[in-house]
Amino acid sequence: MNHLLLRVFLNPYADIFTDDPKNNVSEYIYEKLDKNLHLQTNHPLGILKTVIEEYFSMRFKHKPFTFYDDLTPIVSTQANFDSVLVPPGHVSRSSNDTYYVDDNTVLRCHTSAHQLELLKSGARRFLVTGDVYRRDSIDATHFPVFHQMEGVCVFEPQDWEARQLSSLELANSELKITLEGLVRHLFGEIQMRWVDAYFPFTEPSYELEIFFNGEWLEVLGCGVMQKSILDEASLGNHRAWAFGLGLERLAMILFDIPDIRLFWSTDLRFSKQFKAGMFRAGGVGMQKFSSYSKFPPCYKDVSFWLAKDSTRFTENTLCELVRDVAGNLIEEVKLIDEFYNPKLDQTSNCFRFTYRSMERSLTDDEVNQLQEQVRSRLVDELDVTLR
Ligand code: DAH
Repeated sequence: MNHLLLRVFLNPYADIFTDDPKNNVSEYIYEKLDKNLHLQTNHPLGILKTVIEEYFSMRFKHKPFTFYDDLTPIVSTQANFDSVLVPPGHVSRSSNDTYYVDDNTVLRCHTSAHQLELLKSGARRFLVTGDVYRRDSIDATHFPVFHQMEGVCVFEPQDWEARQLSSLELANSELKITLEGLVRHLFGEIQMRWVDAYFPFTEPSYELEIFFNGEWLEVLGCGVMQKSILDEASLGNHRAWAFGLGLERLAMILFDIPDIRLFWSTDLRFSKQFKAGMFRAGGVGMQKFSSYSKFPPCYKDVSFWLAKDSTRFTENTLCELVRDVAGNLIEEVKLIDEFYNPKLDQTSNCFRFTYRSMERSLTDDEVNQLQEQVRSRLVDELDVTLR
């Protein structure tokens, strides 16, 4: 059976390989599309999702939330950007930041992409959990695929009238009470603070931070939904709050997981440490992740001149290329030197790659081969001149 047929049988997303010039989905990303880590009940992301859903079930017993966790990650640019008021020309719309299937279709870069369609379909209180995709840098906390949870709660006039509040006051205070409760459900008694933020789809907007191990960490973004989104869903006389959080980020804190690549590991030394039902708020009495021995890193530097008349090279595209070559064996890509030579009118970059497996020791040969492939693809695809 040829490669393409095999793909179609094994992965329902094979049709994302369009020949559209805008298509920038690599094989490596494609292979992640049917993994649905958040649906694995004994996986840390699945465990965390369940714990958050349990909180919402308890808190909203009488006006229950609906949980969505299998909406397709392939969405229109309209859903991903326009429906949540991301302005034209915003950086997140560029193909340097987002994976395009074709000009009008992307791999969602946030679960907010589903807010409007769900509101239009009649949903009023819901959580959406799913995989999201972003072209980004490479380090211990960034991976091009991660998982988010989105929450939306809509109020009707009688809700605020009954409490003699304005609609904004009600949405704002319910938002804060609900999310502070969520943080206590996850972390136990912990110091938290609200920080003003900006999102195009909410006004006002906030981030909630917790004081954890001596530093303030952002755990979620949220706000009162822009009226124009509600108008679009024919809910003009309603109010709503919304929030979005990254599951990996929270799971890394709660379970003490040191590297984001571990979520993708099939190594039993990782997976057997997690069981549905193991979670305890704040980790009190809970067995945290115990790192098995770290394998040695291998550093490789590469220096090159950027082409004067080409815009092909960007740091995200370099990272994408390295991921495509080295998969989960690349731990970090870091710009360590940059200078401009006025005589040549050229800019030089030096990047340091850290190769390390989460599962075994890498051989010199293996790393040299990866590095050779990266070097030659850098020249062929990104128009740079190696130094
Ligand atoms: N979509 C935002 C992100 O990916 C997260 C977010 C922030 C979602 C505020 C929301 C919200 O619904 O109200 O960074």
